[in-house]
Amino acid sequence: MDYKRTLVTCALPYANGPIHIGHLAGVYIPADIYVRYLRMRGEDVLYVCGSDEHGVPITIKAREQGCTPQDIVDRYHKIIKDSFAGLGINFDIYSRTSSPVHGKNASDFFRKLYDDGKFITKESEQFYDVQEKTFLADRYITGTCPRCGNPDAYGDQCEKCGATLSPEELIHPKSKLSGGEIIKKKTSHWYLPLDRYEGWLGRWILDGHKEWRSNVYGQCKSWIDGGLQPRAVSRDLDWGVPVPVEGAEGKVLYVWFDAPIGYISNTQELLPKSWKTWWQDDSTRLVHFIGKDNIVFHCIVFPSMLKAHGDYILPDNVPANEFLNLEGDKISTSRNWAVWADEYLKDFPGKEDVLRYVLTANAPETKDNDFSWRDFQARNNNELVAVFGNFVNRALVLTHKYFNGKVPAKGELTQMDRDALAEIPALKASLERNLAEFKFREALKDALGIARVGNKYISDSEPWKVAKTDMDRCATILHVSLQICADLAVAFEPFTPFSAQKLREMLGISVDAGTDHRRGEQETVNTFKEGEAAALHTRPCGEALTADGLVLRWDDLGREDLLPEGHSLREPQLLFAKVEDEAIEAQLKRLEEIRKAREAAAALKAEPQKEECSFEDFEKMDIRTATVLEAERVPKTDKLLKLTIDTGIDRRVIVSGIAEYYSPEEMLGKQICILANLKPRVIRGIESKGMILMARQGDGKMRFITPQEVLANGAQVG
Ligand code: 2FM
Ligand code: ZN
Repeated sequence: MDYKRTLVTCALPYANGPIHIGHLAGVYIPADIYVRYLRMRGEDVLYVCGSDEHGVPITIKAREQGCTPQDIVDRYHKIIKDSFAGLGINFDIYSRTSSPVHGKNASDFFRKLYDDGKFITKESEQFYDVQEKTFLADRYITGTCPRCGNPDAYGDQCEKCGATLSPEELIHPKSKLSGGEIIKKKTSHWYLPLDRYEGWLGRWILDGHKEWRSNVYGQCKSWIDGGLQPRAVSRDLDWGVPVPVEGAEGKVLYVWFDAPIGYISNTQELLPKSWKTWWQDDSTRLVHFIGKDNIVFHCIVFPSMLKAHGDYILPDNVPANEFLNLEGDKISTSRNWAVWADEYLKDFPGKEDVLRYVLTANAPETKDNDFSWRDFQARNNNELVAVFGNFVNRALVLTHKYFNGKVPAKGELTQMDRDALAEIPALKASLERNLAEFKFREALKDALGIARVGNKYISDSEPWKVAKTDMDRCATILHVSLQICADLAVAFEPFTPFSAQKLREMLGISVDAGTDHRRGEQETVNTFKEGEAAALHTRPCGEALTADGLVLRWDDLGREDLLPEGHSLREPQLLFAKVEDEAIEAQLKRLEEIRKAREAAAALKAEPQKEECSFEDFEKMDIRTATVLEAERVPKTDKLLKLTIDTGIDRRVIVSGIAEYYSPEEMLGKQICILANLKPRVIRGIESKGMILMARQGDGKMRFITPQEVLANGAQVG
């Protein structure tokens, strides 16, 4: 180890939506495992993240919702921050790029590069919305996709066929803001001339970092070999960090320029006095955890910015993951095809570790991977419950039953005991190798391997039978089993920290999980009262050191004497509970509903618009609000309801074909809209005067139209 400390950053998530399992599996869970592991090894680690709060999609969402971009980021920053905390992903700081510290830092960074002549300026023609008098980012331009004919493709991408586009390629491009005409207009921007860094990048990455993951190295190679172009670092937009140069009114830093600087800003915010140690000292090792779509920014653009600046260290590694799919389909925020972290935490309270475990077991490390709810259930029930939980439970329950909850004495070891114990150091070595190489899936298999050793050992040695004839032998078996439980309490800390802590509580031990920097330097400067310093040396989840002082470190894993004879254990509790079919079916049903709604929406889009009608035609229709007073089925029919309604002008009967969608009870008291002047018709012998207005979606599902708030009956619609 030729470094003194490790700075771990996680991609700053955009604060325009909650985070989902794809983000978690790709970036945050692997980073968290890594940080917890290093800390348990006694390494000094700083763990930094925050919300990425600039960029065009946030402004689009704000417009759609009729609020400000700040409202949007305030809402999602909180949701995202809470989700991380809920899953035990405890950054030292989780700040945001709308913070004043960041505004100043990003601005200063730009200004230094500007003053040092590191930018070039270029004039180019950009699309401009004539009506709104504003330049348009590519996302603000829509038109027909030249590849698949999707009429709603964006200027940068078609979400239907996935094609990467430029606005020029769209057929009939128009402004998403006004829906109106767009023209090309000249504008000037600052560019970072990446072409000047090409040679250096080649030497630094292609020659110097052959150890990077092949997906990361391969992408870098193809960018560098393909030749790099200058990249614009400013945009014509009113949301972001203003360009700190005279004459740059209406221009902000490009989000991908300011966001990575956010890592530095957030460190400054936490450690205003000592942040430079983490960013400007060669003995710090910088590791960026990201998803594969961020590789170019973290390996090519940001390092070039850091190099241009001159004061900063460069990343030592960038372990980027591929993508996670959900039930065989690409995860998509816009299509609502995701498992959202905040919803998971509500739907599965107490099962934070199950998600952490399953997402690690299926991490998309070398290729895209799939999350399915059935696999989630199977891994929980067959691995966490049946192997890890079952072993621990048997060892603890039997110790309470036969030895009053105290670690029994070890007699002479048999070959079977020695064989079981000998497997642990080998698994530990593999676990360490895999974690050092960012192979978290393999590392998790090693950790579970320890539980498998324990489970097999206790099954084969059958202490519950031995207890009938030989209490000394039973004591030895349980002694050995409990040492393996203690190994698990250490080995699983990075992967399933809540359960590892619960296990440690049952075993009456704790781990030293390194320094927690969350409180910032002002509180870490030796001003502790006695005993307080120890509180800083606790695991990030806040576990306190135990009174009897059995504090384990990573290096203790595999030692055969972790729990001494006579050490008291607490009452055993189940570490994991089964996930029942109903919980899984509820999740699958939710996804099925989303899929159906999407298909229905697509089918509706395919339905041609009806023939044009005149305003006078429309004016002929007398549409009003009305309330259902009585409702009953029309005898001998499946589809018809007889509704007596108050129209505000009279009380009348309408026969409506909605019985498939609503029961009579559901209709009672509902306010609806009706076409009041439809010529009366006799249906099944009942005179029906008017029609209930219904919305029908592509799959045939129908819902009545109701005013957003209750209105007087007879209010005219039009
Ligand atoms: O892709 C994303 O979600 C970006 N918000 C990641 C930014 S990472 C860093 F540069 F801030
Ligand atoms: Zn397309």
